Amino acid sequence: MTITAPTAPEAVHVGADELPWADIGGGNKLRLLQIREKEGLWIVENIFQKGFDVQTHKHTGPVWGYTVSGAWKYKEYDYVNRAGSFLYEPAGSVHTLECIEDDTQVWFHMYGVNLNLDEEGNVASVSDGAGTLAAYTAMCEAQGLGTPNVVIGD
Ligand SMILES: [Fe+2]
Repeated sequence: MTITAPTAPEAVHVGADELPWADIGGGNKLRLLQIREKEGLWIVENIFQKGFDVQTHKHTGPVWGYTVSGAWKYKEYDYVNRAGSFLYEPAGSVHTLECIEDDTQVWFHMYGVNLNLDEEGNVASVSDGAGTLAAYTAMCEAQGLGTPNVVIGD
């Protein structure tokens, strides 16, 4: 039996300095590593400063988070994510991110969308991969970082 090499997909490598960090305000940063819109996949990396909050949100799909440096938590829980922490967020989970140390770097691998909730629990807005790609690209271009070479698939 022969395995035909031309049909084998190739791995895609992105070096640490090959995707720019877009400034999202207050020294907080974002980069979008990959999006596969039909699968609902989007993978982002953030650098947050102490005091940065992410609006309370509900995930429609599962999320995996890995913390590279610093410290952050969800206001609803006592545990703290630090360097090396692994976090699994099931579909349907609801929480409010709070950064508690400067230069906190964290990576999120998400499926589905984030339903951003107001204080009454109503959906105020939706965050997804396609919207994040558009926003990230626009911020990079506006900030003189060029057009980012995000890994984009179906
Ligand atoms: Fe989340």
